[in-house]
Amino acid sequence: MLSDNPVTLIINNIGQLLTMDGPVPRVSASMRELGMIRNGALAIADDTIVWTGERSKLKLALAPDCIEVDAEGKVVTPGLIDPHTHPVFSATREDEFEMRLQGKSYMEIAQAGGGIRRSVRDLRSTPEAILYQKAMRRLDRFVEHGVTTIEAKSGYGLSTGSELKQLEVIRDLHRDHVIDLVPTFMGAHEFPDEYRDKREKYVELIINEMLPAVAQSGLAAFSDIFCEKGVFDLDQSYRIQDAARGYGMKLKFHADELVSFGGAELAASMSAVSADHLVYISDAGIKAMAGSRTVAVLLPGTSYSLGHGDFAPARKMIDNGVVVALSTDCNPGSNYSESLPMMISFAATQLRMTAAEAFCAVTVNAACAIDLGGQVGMLIPGLPADLVIWEMDDYRELPYHYGVNLVSAVIKRGQVVLQR
Ligand code: NIG
Ligand code: FE
Repeated sequence: MLSDNPVTLIINNIGQLLTMDGPVPRVSASMRELGMIRNGALAIADDTIVWTGERSKLKLALAPDCIEVDAEGKVVTPGLIDPHTHPVFSATREDEFEMRLQGKSYMEIAQAGGGIRRSVRDLRSTPEAILYQKAMRRLDRFVEHGVTTIEAKSGYGLSTGSELKQLEVIRDLHRDHVIDLVPTFMGAHEFPDEYRDKREKYVELIINEMLPAVAQSGLAAFSDIFCEKGVFDLDQSYRIQDAARGYGMKLKFHADELVSFGGAELAASMSAVSADHLVYISDAGIKAMAGSRTVAVLLPGTSYSLGHGDFAPARKMIDNGVVVALSTDCNPGSNYSESLPMMISFAATQLRMTAAEAFCAVTVNAACAIDLGGQVGMLIPGLPADLVIWEMDDYRELPYHYGVNLVSAVIKRGQVVLQR
């Protein structure tokens, strides 16, 4: 087959090429479809994939300076997509992690003034340049672990000015780093210190001031909310998200993370793009999500790092036809990790997901969770050339061989951005 554009980069000698070609989104048994080509090759013209197939059939017009990368019989997959992160913050909170090990719960620490509110005080007093620098290093770590696109939330500002400040940092990171960032406004992450005793006033501030200002700035594609007992209740969540969609923003929810609260049902009823966490989702919630296109973004690292021992009922969700994705939730409180491969290992051992389901959940379905379904997360002609060469002969090694970095090279938009 001949392509019109001269090929600038060829990845040759791929033992298992997981193209992920197939339905979008993927549910139930189709989550295990990998579109696998054995002994494959993949050709790129500039930033776009132009051809995939068996290497013996590779016959294309090459640019004079075309680079050929020998994958040495290893696995190649799409660049991983992390659809739920909080990467812009200043100080870490390892002391809270230790407090949890000694028996304090996440909510107890939050109610005593720690948790998100502590990161809010910290972000407000940190200059943008420092936030940018620290987040840049975290983005490097995402790429080192095979991630080429992330969603990134605000939510440590909780005032109009400091939410915009955080979103501006996300904009600058997207502009300057090889990784793509999809921005989410999360002014409803917590009630800040100054509104603890007048919560309704804070809801009004979000609706009447923050959302209009954020919409006007064009700095956020999504609106997210911490819909949870003790934080934003169902009625407040509905009102804030209803206002957000009025401004053309797409919806995400932190739902049923700490107790069963009805967040999944609300998210599905509002046609949210995703509902995330869902550790304590009810059977009614699973039914509501299965009957919608709302993606369930599961964050097993958060269960692991909170240490409570409960994990989202992934098997039940997959078997009932819910669209399932996986993410790190990378943040300074409930899970500080930039490693999606580690989450894939947790997904295997704690969520009972197969390696194939997990790859689907960090590619095709993760793309759906940021409303980019079919546009990234697959290796098919016409799509951006975002891919990972892994130091493995079989894709099933990833959850099994855990705690070490198996990324060999990362290619973002046709450029080799990392080689180890
Ligand atoms: O997804 N639950 C709310 N937000 C984050 C935690 C943020 C923090 O503790 O700083 C989460 O778990
Ligand atoms: Fe989160």
